[in-house]
Amino acid sequence: MNNYQKNILVTGGAGFIGSHLVRLLINKYPNYHIINLDKLTYAGNLDNIKDIESASNYTFIKGDICDKEAISEVFKTYKIDNVIHLAAESHVDRSITNPIEFVETNVVGTVILLNIAKESWKGKPENIFYHVSTDEVYGSLGETGFFVEDTSYDPRSPYSASKASSDHFVRAYHETYNLSIKISNCSNNYGSHQFPEKLIPLVINNIVNNKPLPIYGKGENIRDWLHVKDHVEAIDLIFHEGAIGETFNIGGHNERKNIDLVKLLIELVDKKLNRQSGNSLELITYVKDRAGHDMRYAINADKIQNILGWAPKYTIEQGLEETVNWFLENENWINNIVSGDYLNYYEKQYVKR
Ligand code: NAD
Ligand code: TYD
Repeated sequence: MNNYQKNILVTGGAGFIGSHLVRLLINKYPNYHIINLDKLTYAGNLDNIKDIESASNYTFIKGDICDKEAISEVFKTYKIDNVIHLAAESHVDRSITNPIEFVETNVVGTVILLNIAKESWKGKPENIFYHVSTDEVYGSLGETGFFVEDTSYDPRSPYSASKASSDHFVRAYHETYNLSIKISNCSNNYGSHQFPEKLIPLVINNIVNNKPLPIYGKGENIRDWLHVKDHVEAIDLIFHEGAIGETFNIGGHNERKNIDLVKLLIELVDKKLNRQSGNSLELITYVKDRAGHDMRYAINADKIQNILGWAPKYTIEQGLEETVNWFLENENWINNIVSGDYLNYYEKQYVKR
């Protein structure tokens, strides 16, 4: 094996954000070995990383973070000296239907990883365990205010409760065992390769196929959107320059009501498809609200901006246009997904709602 400067285990690197991060790391750091471990659940897709699979500083392993023996073996074989942990069950609606899977992967899986890192890295404070987390751990905001790093945790969905729990365990390993950790809590991401269960890719795909655009409740819930490439640049920066034990919030000050975002997507997609402006507005369909639907998320990103000099590069208009173009140009990617299991999920989530 080459003598790499770092041997970084990235978990969940076949998913949406993980695939963007793995691509950034292997291209930017040829002297790092990136070991991508992913269970390839419904959300993991080797198509997301096929352009980089033959890179010399890259190894893919199909594996489950809950499998202690397999993870210990990976630590030994590849001399893992850093972890960037993204593997998770990530969709709120699925967490409402099946919370147990979220506890298994997001909580138990995270603790298994932490424990193996602690055992393997004794006396090595330079080795970092970085947990990629969400702003949803802070709960739901009213009309005003922003999440800051010391906002109290108040998770309200099984997904956010599982991520909050895993954040607590990561901090507990720092306090109790001196494991060198970093955490970031990011707002809603969008961009290429996002699984079409999430609002933006689901809506783009449904506009293209003239299917109803399901809006939960009144469509007035607010999310703070960030392009995935801005997120992975922030992760890179925090991993390299953030102080040990610190938490950083990541967000782009792009709050939108769901209904306004959907209207913007309709405008963009209709234009690209040479449809009459506003043609797809008639597809908007208000459906039963999500149980416990958080009203508003909004990030104050002053800490990462002031301390690390990070700022998002994309405006939401540029980012959405690039995203729409990608989905229109990659019909095969989405068509491979929206068959099989996806049809069952869609039927349960929307048709029988
Ligand atoms: P995703 O669902 O697209 O990908 C998750 C990946 O994890 C998949 O490739 C899946 O196969 C893998 N995985 C799931 N269970 C696993 C297990 N037991 N062992 C190994 N691999 C497993 O999710 P995403 O949107 O890319 O999110 C990645 C991380 O970022 C998650 O931890 C999520 O909580 C966090 N996050 C996401 C957002 C967002 O807007 N998507 C925002 C902030 C934080
Ligand atoms: P989502 O993309 O699931 O992200 P999260 O729940 O983690 O914020 O949803 C974004 C917003 O869009 C959220 O307020 C729920 C809403 N939504 C709909 O109105 N319809 C849909 O079909 C989906 C998937 C989400």
